Amino acid sequence: MKILITGNKGQLGTALQAVLTGHEVTGFDLPEVDMTEKDGLFTAVSSANPDLIIHCAAYTNVDGCAKDPALAYKANGLGTQNVALAALEFGAEMLHVSTNEVFAGDRRDGYEEWMPLNPGNAYGRSKAAAEFYVRTLLQRAYIVRTAWLYAPGGRNFIHAILNRARETGQLSVVVDEVGNPTYANDLAQAIAQLIETQQYGTYHFVNSGATSRWEFANEILRQAGLTDVTNTPIFVADYKRASTPPPYAALHNIAGKAIGIELRPWQEALAEYIQEYA
Ligand SMILES: NC(=O)c1ccc[n+]([C@@H]2O[C@H](COP(=O)([O-])OP(=O)(O)OC[C@H]3O[C@@H](n4cnc5c(N)ncnc54)[C@H](OP(=O)(O)O)[C@@H]3O)[C@@H](O)[C@H]2O)c1
Repeated sequence: MKILITGNKGQLGTALQAVLTGHEVTGFDLPEVDMTEKDGLFTAVSSANPDLIIHCAAYTNVDGCAKDPALAYKANGLGTQNVALAALEFGAEMLHVSTNEVFAGDRRDGYEEWMPLNPGNAYGRSKAAAEFYVRTLLQRAYIVRTAWLYAPGGRNFIHAILNRARETGQLSVVVDEVGNPTYANDLAQAIAQLIETQQYGTYHFVNSGATSRWEFANEILRQAGLTDVTNTPIFVADYKRASTPPPYAALHNIAGKAIGIELRPWQEALAEYIQEYA
C-alpha cells in the first residue's frame, strides 16, 4: 500500500515509519507542508498519490489551545477537514488519530467507542470537530482515539517526571486525572494491524488498564530506580495551567478487541520504554 503520514516528525508519525516496513511510506510535516493551507496540502497529497492517509499532524499543545482556541480549531479542525477533503478528492482511505479529550471525563467507569462526545476544553473541541469532518466527509475512514502518548525524544510526561525528580528530588502530581499511558510504538503496531482490515469505524487504542497521573509518576520512579523521591498527590484545581483536562477519561478498547487488536498493559510497555530510553 502507498501510505502518506501527516505529522511524520511527531511522536506517532516517527513510530509508524518504523513499523510500516511492508508499505511504500511517505510523509510531511511543518514547515514543508501546512495542512491548514489547502492548495499546498492538495499538491502534496496529489504527488504522493496514496492509497491511505494516516493523519497524525495536530496542534497537540493543550495549554496553547486553551490560550488560543481559534488557532486550535484552525490546526485541528480546519486542518483535518482539508486532509479529509484531499482523501476524498484523490480516492484515498483515511485513518484519523484522535484523543480521549473529546470526552467530558465525568464518567468514572471510562468511555467506550460509541459514547457521545462532550469535550470540556479547546483542544478537545478542536479534535471533536476533526472527528466530525472525517465522519461526515468519508466512508472509508478509521478514527483511532488514544491517550497520554509517549515516545523516545518526544516532549512527554515520563521525561518531565524524570527530569524534575533528578533535579529536585521531589514531585507534586495530580491524583484526580485518570487516563491510559500509551507507548507510541504499541499504538503504531495496532494501527498497522487495523489498516489491513478495511473494518472502518472508531477505535480506542491505548495500552490496557487505567491510572491517575500520580500513580503513573510513582510507577515511573519505581521502574527508573528513583525510590527516594517524594511524590505528593495534589488536585487539578491546585495545579495552575491554562487547560483543564478531563478528570476520568480512560478509554476502553471494545471494538479493536472484537477483531483481535489489543495493546499490552501499560506497566509492561512502560517497563520496556524505561529500560531502553530512560
Ligand atoms: N501526545 C499525546 O499525548 C496524545 C494523546 C492523545 C491523542 N493524541 C493525538 O495523536 C496524534 C499524534 O500525536 P503526537 O504526540 O505524535 O503529536 P506531536 O508529536 O505533537 O506531532 C504532531 C506533528 O504535527 C505537526 N503539525 C502541527 N500543526 C501542523 C500543520 N498545520 N500542518 C502540518 N503539520 C502540523 C507538528 O509540528 P510542530 O511540532 O512543528 O508543531 C508535529 O510534528 C495527534 O493527532 C494527537 O492529537 C496525542
